[in-house]
Amino acid sequence: MLIRTYKQEDEQQIIALWQQCNLTTAWNNPKRDIERKILDSPELFFVGEIDHKIVASCMAGYDGHRGWIYYLAVKPDHQKQGVASKIMSHAEDVLKDIGCPKIDLMVRKTNQSVIAFYHKIGYNDDPVVVLSKRLATDELYKMRCVKMDIEQAKEILGDKFSFSAVDTQKVVQKLNIPKDAKILDVGTGLGSMAIVLALHGYTITTGEPGDDESIYARQNWQENAEKVGVDGQISFEAFNANSLPFEDGSFDAIFSLGSFHHIEASDRIKVLKEFIRTTVPTGIICFFEPNHHTVERIKETDDNHPEPADPTAYISGLNLTSRQIGGSNFDAFIFQKTS
Ligand SMILES: CC(C)(COP(=O)(O)OP(=O)(O)OC[C@H]1O[C@@H](n2cnc3c(N)ncnc32)[C@H](O)[C@@H]1OP(=O)(O)O)[C@@H](O)C(=O)NCCC(=O)NCCS
Repeated sequence: MLIRTYKQEDEQQIIALWQQCNLTTAWNNPKRDIERKILDSPELFFVGEIDHKIVASCMAGYDGHRGWIYYLAVKPDHQKQGVASKIMSHAEDVLKDIGCPKIDLMVRKTNQSVIAFYHKIGYNDDPVVVLSKRLATDELYKMRCVKMDIEQAKEILGDKFSFSAVDTQKVVQKLNIPKDAKILDVGTGLGSMAIVLALHGYTITTGEPGDDESIYARQNWQENAEKVGVDGQISFEAFNANSLPFEDGSFDAIFSLGSFHHIEASDRIKVLKEFIRTTVPTGIICFFEPNHHTVERIKETDDNHPEPADPTAYISGLNLTSRQIGGSNFDAFIFQKTS
C-alpha cells in the first residue's frame, strides 16, 4: 500500500469511503471538512492507495500540545488486513517528527466496536470526559468562502472591479437578503454589481438600455462573469430604467451601481417609482453612488462625467425608509418600501 498526502482529485473517492464506513453525519459536511483541512494542514491528511485506488484515510492534526486523529477509515473489503495499523503508524511517525508528544482521539459512543482495534494498536482508555462547543456552522464557513472568492475575483478582474467591490461586498453581506431572492441589477456596465451578488450566491437579472452608446455600457460583463465562474447565475435583458419590462412586485431587491447620477434629473423620480412598482411590498432598493473624490477621479479621464447625485433628495412622499452606508469609493443609499 502506498501512503501519501491527500490530493484534490481524491475528493470523491474519500467521501465515498467515509460514507461506506458510516463516518459522515448530518452535522459534518465531508466536503467542507476536507476544504478546512486543506486550508489548515494538508500535510497531515493521509490516504492509503492500492492499485491507484484509495482504500484508507487518516486525518491527523497537531495543536502544539496534543496530536489528534480523525476520519480513520478502511474500505470494508480491505479491513482486517493490517491497513489501518499501517496508516496509523505512518500518522504517528509524522506527528512524532513534528514534536508531538501524545495522541488523543475520540470515538463516538455509537462506535464502541472500534475501541478493541485501538487497544490492539497500543491506545489506552483515558479517564477524561470530552466536552465540545460548536463555533461555526457550515453557513458561517460559507461566508468565509464568499470572502475568499471575492478576494480572488478582485485579483482576476483587476482594479476596475475592486474599486466598487470593496464597498458593494460589505453592503450585500450586511443586507443578508435570503439566497432565493429575486434580484434585479440596473445598469450592467462591467457586470461588477451582478458579479458581487452572484459571488454571494444570488441569481440576478441585469440590464441596461440596448441603445446606450456611452462608454459605461456594453462592457463585456459576460466575459468578466465567465472569468470568475458566475455567468450561469446572471441573465441579461435590455431595458430602460424608467419603464422596466417587469410586472409589479417582480423583485425582492433592486441594486444599481453608479447609475443614478447618469439618469437625467427630470427622470429620477420616474425611475424610483418604477423600482417601487417592480419590487415586493417590503422590497429593498439599493443605489451605490460614487462619492465626490471618486467622481473627481473619474473626471480625470471623462471630462463630461455628471456630478454625484443623492437619491434621498428624490424620495419625499414615496413611502420609503432610508439609510446610508458610507464606503471608500461608493456610498450606499438603501431604501425599503413601507407600503
Ligand atoms: C476501525 C478500522 C479503521 C480498522 O481497520 P482495519 O484495517 O481492519 O484494521 P487492522 O487490519 O489494521 O487491524 C489491526 C488489529 O485490530 C483488529 N481489529 C480491527 N478492527 C477491529 C474491530 N472492529 N474489533 C476488534 N478488533 C479489530 C484486527 O483484527 C487486527 O488485529 P490483529 O493484529 O490481531 O490481527 C476499520 O474497521 C474501519 O474503517 N471502520 C469503520 C470506520 C471507523 O469506525 N473508524 C474509526 C473512527 S474513530
